[in-house]
Amino acid sequence: MNKNVKKDKILIIDFGSQVTKLIARRVRELGVYSEISNLKEIKLLKNFENIKGIIFSGGPATVTKKKFPNIPYKIFKLNIPILGICYGLQLIAVNFKGKVKFNKRNREFGRSTLKKNSNSPLIKNFFSNKKSVSVWMSHQDAVTKLPLGFKKIAYTEESSLTIIENKKKKIYGIQFHPEVTHTDKGKQLIKNFVFLICKAKKNWHVQNEKQKIINQVKSVVKKDRVICALSGGIDSSVVALLIHKAIKNNLKCIMVDTGLLRKNEFKYTYYIFKNYYKINVKLINASKIFYKKLKNITNPEKKRKVIGNLFIKIFEKEARKFKNVRYLAQGTLYPDIIESRSSTGSKTSKIKSHHNVGGLPKKMKLKLIEPLKDLFKDEARKLGGSIGLIKKISSQHPFPGPGLAIRIIGKITPEKIKILQEADSIFINELIKNKIYHKIWQAYAALLPIKTVGVMGDSRTYEYTCLIRAVTSEDGMTADYFNFSKDFLDKIGNKIINGVKGINRVVYDITSKPPSTIELE
Ligand code: XMP
Repeated sequence: MNKNVKKDKILIIDFGSQVTKLIARRVRELGVYSEISNLKEIKLLKNFENIKGIIFSGGPATVTKKKFPNIPYKIFKLNIPILGICYGLQLIAVNFKGKVKFNKRNREFGRSTLKKNSNSPLIKNFFSNKKSVSVWMSHQDAVTKLPLGFKKIAYTEESSLTIIENKKKKIYGIQFHPEVTHTDKGKQLIKNFVFLICKAKKNWHVQNEKQKIINQVKSVVKKDRVICALSGGIDSSVVALLIHKAIKNNLKCIMVDTGLLRKNEFKYTYYIFKNYYKINVKLINASKIFYKKLKNITNPEKKRKVIGNLFIKIFEKEARKFKNVRYLAQGTLYPDIIESRSSTGSKTSKIKSHHNVGGLPKKMKLKLIEPLKDLFKDEARKLGGSIGLIKKISSQHPFPGPGLAIRIIGKITPEKIKILQEADSIFINELIKNKIYHKIWQAYAALLPIKTVGVMGDSRTYEYTCLIRAVTSEDGMTADYFNFSKDFLDKIGNKIINGVKGINRVVYDITSKPPSTIELE
């Protein structure tokens, strides 16, 4: 729990749903601060000041078993409005003498039609005129007996108690997921809970946090030195700029050129940070050693490991050359923090460390400083914009730590990297030129390890296949492939084949995530 936030906040208790983070994002998008907590923290929490509402997330457990993660009853006595989603609804039901049953016939996955039964502030402007709305479900258990003191607000064919309300106690339960975009007007329902029921004030805006974050860095670091691995990605760029604003030249940045970035990207980032922002950046050209260590490696996980370990080794060696450094700055984001702990508070899930700095603090005896640890990626992006990070960096697509290595399937060679950089650059520039770049969450070109026969002019060719991928997404957890026009695809195919020697076939990846992932390896 962040004790520094004195604003109105909505507390989300995580029971392990895959989409809990989306609940927090939806609330923040409304201009109200939200935080995700787990059962262990809630049991210890004494001060509920500023908490205007509590949301129980969904989760994989079932209340039909003898033992299940339950909410401490004190939470229901706080007189703070509560919204239970999916498993959260079922928890509310069993705590107030309702019944929940597993029934094959009641289970619903995907879209369902929700129908209105009675009025409630929770559903203001939520239903269309026909008194029905499409919602997204993912449940096997269903509430089969209304809990004491509750009223039925809405239902579906399969489950008769899909929204329930106890107006006096301000407790609400819903079986579907308003946080996912597949639920029509899901944002409206969350808005109703936050403003009409919780009466929270709209006073969270990440741009207003910048001075607070800068002051926090100043007060922690004082006159000590901070070191930072700068890649040119959004997270490390925002971190470097923020810390530089706080402590000026006591920040030392190291850029390790792995040779695995996009065409000209490394030089550009170095130039901007060194000459435009006047930040102390040391450049290490390590591409040769990276290529050498990656030679003949085809296994994706092995590639990641080799890159990660080598990066650490080089960074560590360079960092030791700076004297009197006490802190290591890292671009850890809020989702990384949430993912690093389990919903029940046990230590079963491992910390997800960034590939490029994981393990460093322990070895180097440096203290960690993570100024973005309470923010989502899009908030870090906005914060970057408000402290002067140039748009080309702050609005760029995400780029994976291992870089082009996981976009060259199979063996990596300097020749293949060059071919891919050229193809990728043509693709991305066309997206920008045609004003499509910002409609897409992530786009890239990849090189497949197959050569096929083609014909160019009067000659037969035998060259590589380039795969292009472009997806829309909110957070990278799920993604849909982008629907390009045939004209655009024609243009891309032609430009890549005519412009890049070594490629004679271009294919477009039409899979979504799931079942595929965004990257190929
Ligand atoms: P996948 O391929 O898992 O990717 O659907 C989801 C998002 O994560 C990015 N990604 C990475 N980012 N280090 C990173 O910093 C990595 O090792 C890594 N692997 C995947 C990917 O680009 C996408 O945005």
